Amino acid sequence: MMQDPAFPNREITSRRAFLGAVLALGSCDATRFPSPDLEVQTGSASLRDTAAVPVGCCVSTARLRDTAYRDLLARQFSQITPEWEMKVGYIARDDGSFRFDAPDALVAFAAEHRMRVHGTTLTWYKHTPPAFQRLDGDRPAFRAAFVRYVSAVAGRYRGKISGWDVVNEPVDDDGALRTSTWTRNLGAEDHMVEAFQLAHEADPDAVLFINDYDMESKPAKRAALMRLVERLIAKGAPIGGIGTQTHVPIDEAPGDIGAAIRDLASFGLPIHVSELDVSFRGARLDLRMREQKLALQADLARETADALMALPERQRYALTMWGLRDQDSWLRSPPFDQFGVDHPVLFDDAGAPKPMYDAIKLGLGRS
Ligand code: G3I
Repeated sequence: MMQDPAFPNREITSRRAFLGAVLALGSCDATRFPSPDLEVQTGSASLRDTAAVPVGCCVSTARLRDTAYRDLLARQFSQITPEWEMKVGYIARDDGSFRFDAPDALVAFAAEHRMRVHGTTLTWYKHTPPAFQRLDGDRPAFRAAFVRYVSAVAGRYRGKISGWDVVNEPVDDDGALRTSTWTRNLGAEDHMVEAFQLAHEADPDAVLFINDYDMESKPAKRAALMRLVERLIAKGAPIGGIGTQTHVPIDEAPGDIGAAIRDLASFGLPIHVSELDVSFRGARLDLRMREQKLALQADLARETADALMALPERQRYALTMWGLRDQDSWLRSPPFDQFGVDHPVLFDDAGAPKPMYDAIKLGLGRS
């Protein structure tokens, strides 16, 4: 049995919990940012007013040009995640220079509305822009560009970002580590350790996350991610939190989401439900009534909120929706729109709350 350094009077029963507790000691107090103003709405308090944890939403500068969008986002949410404009595909120009106009605008919007910012992502197998592609094979040059990029981006937003996805989607659907231009030039796990160390040096107070998807429906993938987290921590990666994207269909088995959150939380680190949406798309012709599908969606949202709230307070980083209104969802874009019109998030196309909104509000409500 081991002592929990964060809570001396508590015994630790597992190596994971000990590893996480040691890291949690050094990681930022996720409540370091001022709690958002309590914005009392005429008639009813908003989600951000009543939630006991930060509630986030992904956002882009293009969507902020819509006044109705801006107002709804600022009224209901206390955190934002840039949907794509804080990723290497946006920031790294072909000539190797960086552009920060859009991420700076999103950070400024958040500051104006007393919202936290969660950054995604410092590394991701999916994006290798030309500035890196042309260095493929020249490992010293590729690594120099990698170090320069991670340090510059994490350093620019020091003190303005509550947390970063440092490593995004490292595990393939079969549980193997993904290979990419990044792993070929930097080492499969070495670049992950280095990314966490560089981000920590650049912004010591940011909570640094590893983030992945299908943690609910693929327990073997979840177990592989957890083994990776153990290895990375043992190699010195200052992992401060674990993100579970939680993109699920309405037919996700009840209990899957809660089981995933509880399992990932066994390290004792903060948990971020980082990209929640509950999709109507199914693999088969779906003749169910809309009301029935909305109810299933609300039940899964409530399960998510309840599981996050069941964690110790220091492990409740945030719950982030991946889209404000149904019309804003990535699932409305090709190729996903081939499955028909989806309705995956809290607000309908007109911005009216759906049963899922009420479920999240009740589940995250301060007791
Ligand atoms: O709107 C611009 C357009 O003006 C520009 O001409 C064009 C040039 O490529 O880009 C357009 O922006 C696109 C943006 O979505 C807005 O639609 C980007 O190309 C496109 O890359 C971006 O895709 C995002 C994707 O991640 C890749 O970054 C999606 O919005 C975003 O929802 C998706 O989010 C991912 C998470 O990061 C990881 N988990 C899965 C999730 C869904 O795929």
